[in-house]
Amino acid sequence: MKTVSQISELRAQVKAWRQQGLTVAFVPTMGNLHAGHISLVDEAHKHADKIVASIFINPMQFGINEDIDNYPRTMVDDQQKLTVAGTDLLFTPTPDIIYPKGLAKQSFVEVPNISDGYCGESRPGHFRGVATVVCKLFNLVQPDVACFGLKDYQQVQVIQTMVEDLSLPITIIPVATTREESGLALSSRNGYLTAEEKAIAPVLQQNLQWLAEQISIGFAQSDSIDFIGLSKQAAKAINDSGLHTDYLHVCHAQTLQPASEDDTQLVILAAAHCGKARLIDNLQVDLT
Ligand code: PAF
Repeated sequence: MKTVSQISELRAQVKAWRQQGLTVAFVPTMGNLHAGHISLVDEAHKHADKIVASIFINPMQFGINEDIDNYPRTMVDDQQKLTVAGTDLLFTPTPDIIYPKGLAKQSFVEVPNISDGYCGESRPGHFRGVATVVCKLFNLVQPDVACFGLKDYQQVQVIQTMVEDLSLPITIIPVATTREESGLALSSRNGYLTAEEKAIAPVLQQNLQWLAEQISIGFAQSDSIDFIGLSKQAAKAINDSGLHTDYLHVCHAQTLQPASEDDTQLVILAAAHCGKARLIDNLQVDLT
């Protein structure tokens, strides 16, 4: 695997592949890679001849109270994992390469509506930062396809909407969440959990599963489902276990609007604090 940090080097390599008629898949990351990221690279291999990954801790998607300086940086380990997974090119730009004029003077991409609630509400400006850097990376790499993990469900919908709204010629491939045996979704932020917190963290996914079952039972038995009441019960069970629920909502799987009784493709979106970590998770519910 070749590692480059300059835009000119990235463009030269991708251009050379294009001249050979090769297709390109892209896996953007912020590093501190785990098996979930590697599953994105594995998926990318199914869709293109060459794989480009990026590691860039994007300052634009961190809020003022979010500690970007302490975000884990594990470049050597990450390079080894990406090499083993068969990545062809790793792009590792610095912030001054991505934002040469500084953040205050940087043009940005805002994806309205879908960015507003849930993580967008808890982390103002977060999805503007994500959409801007992903749009910029897409323009630099110009891939045919790009892979994103479904653990960040709202992020995938924001990026899919951006690609559609801006007519970007890129196919977004959503990739299923990788989980520990306990059901806990793999996340770079799990590193902040103590052993005790790690033991209770799976209650988040367990309660999403309970809620999905209640919705399916309700759908089979009647045409009226109390999404809000059931969500409150699930949030209470999560809080009673020692986590602190930030949000938990049943939504339409594509628009992310609150679920209505006519919807058959749903997603339960949730975030909860567990010690120093803010865990996010989701569960899709297919009622067809
Ligand atoms: O999911 C992430 O790691 C980041 O939000 C992304 C997509 C790499 C953009 O910085």
